[in-house]
Amino acid sequence: METNKGIIFDLDGVIVDTAKFHFLAWRKLANDLGFDFTKEQNEQLKGVSRVESLRKILEWGELELSKTEFKRQMALKNENYLSYVAKMDKSEILPGVQKVIDYLIENNIPFALGSASKNARTILKKINLLDEFDAIVDGTDVSKAKPDPEVFLIAAEKLNVKPENSIVFEDSVAGVQAANNANMISIGIGEEKTLGEADYVFNDFTEIDIDFIKKLLTK
Ligand code: BG6
Ligand code: MG
Repeated sequence: METNKGIIFDLDGVIVDTAKFHFLAWRKLANDLGFDFTKEQNEQLKGVSRVESLRKILEWGELELSKTEFKRQMALKNENYLSYVAKMDKSEILPGVQKVIDYLIENNIPFALGSASKNARTILKKINLLDEFDAIVDGTDVSKAKPDPEVFLIAAEKLNVKPENSIVFEDSVAGVQAANNANMISIGIGEEKTLGEADYVFNDFTEIDIDFIKKLLTK
């Protein structure tokens, strides 16, 4: 297919449901420190870097940690998170995602990963998708967290696609804002009431049919 467009996928909560593992690991950390946070507050952690997430959580718990303890808690959280990741395989790819990826490959449409996670490559490897992406931009490549557009702008550049021709799939508020800030087409995966700022919102990939993708690509 002839198109000047490219696709950028977020990872956590879009390709795989690792958002639930992040939540479990952060909640354990908070509970161990003697407080809790709500599912609504957790929405604010989605798409946000590891450091930023811990800062927010400590603010909610009205707790201050020394630099050393802060680092130790981040490492503990990641260790706990990775214990869930270790059990993952390709059956964890969310329903409907593979069909879209297969279509993009068959039609030579460039696609990239744009994730805040430093564990992105580990996860892609576990689900057998590491070699499928034309470009991978993750938490080790960026200095500014979503909603800053940096991660998506680098991904588009690597795909050699203009920002306005890039289509982003995102499950987080911060990520939808990052795509919008990059002047890209944003597609929210989740609830309309949370992701209303996106150009389009679907509950999940099973609601997205290939015709919709085709239309976006040929627009
Ligand atoms: C994002 C997740 O993709 O990556 C956040 O939505 C997470 O919840 C962030 O905090 C950083 O991930 P990691 O794996 O580097 O701790
Ligand atoms: Mg996400």
